[in-house]
Amino acid sequence: MTSTIITPTHPVSDALLQRAQQVVPNGMYGHQIATGLWPGAPQFVSRTAGSRMWDADGHEYIDLLCSWGPIIHGYQHPKIEEAVERQRRICDTANGPSEHFVALAEKLVDVVEHADWAMFAKNGSDVTTLCLTIARAHTGRGTILVEEGTYHGALPWCNPDKTGVLASDRAGLAYYTYNDLASVEKLVAEHAGDLAGIIVAPFRHDPAGSDLEMVDPAFAQGLRRICDDSGAVLILDEVRTGFRMSFGGSWEQYGVRPDLSSWSKAIGNGYPIAAVLGAERLRESAGSFFVTGTFWFSAVPMVAALTSITLLEEEDGVAHMFARGDQYVAGLREQAASYALPVTITGPVTMPYLSFAGETDHEFTMAWSAECAARGVYVHPKHNGFMSTALTEADVDAVLVATDGAFAEVAKRFF
Ligand SMILES: Cc1ncc(COP(=O)(O)O)c(C=O)c1O
Repeated sequence: MTSTIITPTHPVSDALLQRAQQVVPNGMYGHQIATGLWPGAPQFVSRTAGSRMWDADGHEYIDLLCSWGPIIHGYQHPKIEEAVERQRRICDTANGPSEHFVALAEKLVDVVEHADWAMFAKNGSDVTTLCLTIARAHTGRGTILVEEGTYHGALPWCNPDKTGVLASDRAGLAYYTYNDLASVEKLVAEHAGDLAGIIVAPFRHDPAGSDLEMVDPAFAQGLRRICDDSGAVLILDEVRTGFRMSFGGSWEQYGVRPDLSSWSKAIGNGYPIAAVLGAERLRESAGSFFVTGTFWFSAVPMVAALTSITLLEEEDGVAHMFARGDQYVAGLREQAASYALPVTITGPVTMPYLSFAGETDHEFTMAWSAECAARGVYVHPKHNGFMSTALTEADVDAVLVATDGAFAEVAKRFF
């Protein structure tokens, strides 16, 4: 079977980019889409539906990036859109939250094992930051341990780009190496008496095209022990992983429950919502200080989240994503082996990342992604992909036709 190859010309996208240069500083620089894609990649999206997206020039793709994670049921899922439309007609942003604020908190407390309460916001950065504040309020201490090189958002305390960032923005932070408990223990000794918390991702997913690394269960358990012994707060950043490693907390499978966790992306199927979930012992501290945001309590995203999480539960969506992920990753491995390509695939199959050995600036991965796009599949060369419940077995078969063509092209050009 062969796939159709699109000639990648993007006149509409190019024109939009030129207009953007006039009115957006440095055009698209710093925007998540423009950076890190192959030359000539489509920059603008005009339409989305289910597992598909169309770029501004009308090219259709099966989308394996899912809007960088949020789209867990596919775009414009009919049940979510119906519920959203009903809510939009009666009330969204208002003087106070709607009943769905309470129902969503109840739902998250029910579904996520370590959670006894929930607080809401809009973006991942809101809630990772809020977790640090709660940990400091709770302990009365300052130091938070953070993984060197990870991503918890683009605010001054955590933006990997340090332009305009003061040393004082990062005061109270100390950096450890993922899966290296000795590096954490060293910092714990150095900051004895001032350790407020440790923030950690469920697996290592550093930015800028690095392979992913699953957590060593002994590391996760070690962090729990350190926090228990020192009275510090264990914070799990589920912004990227939420509901794609498990229907509930991602570290349940290792027997580790955090004290706080930060969630966003996948909870609202594309509607802007984020949550901090916390254990009982943090409840009082979490409610002890003022924090809010103008749009944090809007009803529509809460309805979207409630409907989305209920669908995941009723339709065993996580198992579906694992099945499609298994199909995809097994197919990729077989194809790469058939062309004798030095391909590595890391991460959970629901969030896989593919790279090639021996490249210096992602040139093989870039070429592979470009060839996938030319065959109607959108896969990011420097960021893990995301499965969604909208992907059918036939979709993944179609994806694999494209990836096979892309591997053949990379093998011919580079190996
Ligand atoms: C693990 C993690 N934490 C936090 C964030 C920040 O989320 P947001 O971009 O919604 O502020 C991200 C975003 O990609 C993330 O992957």
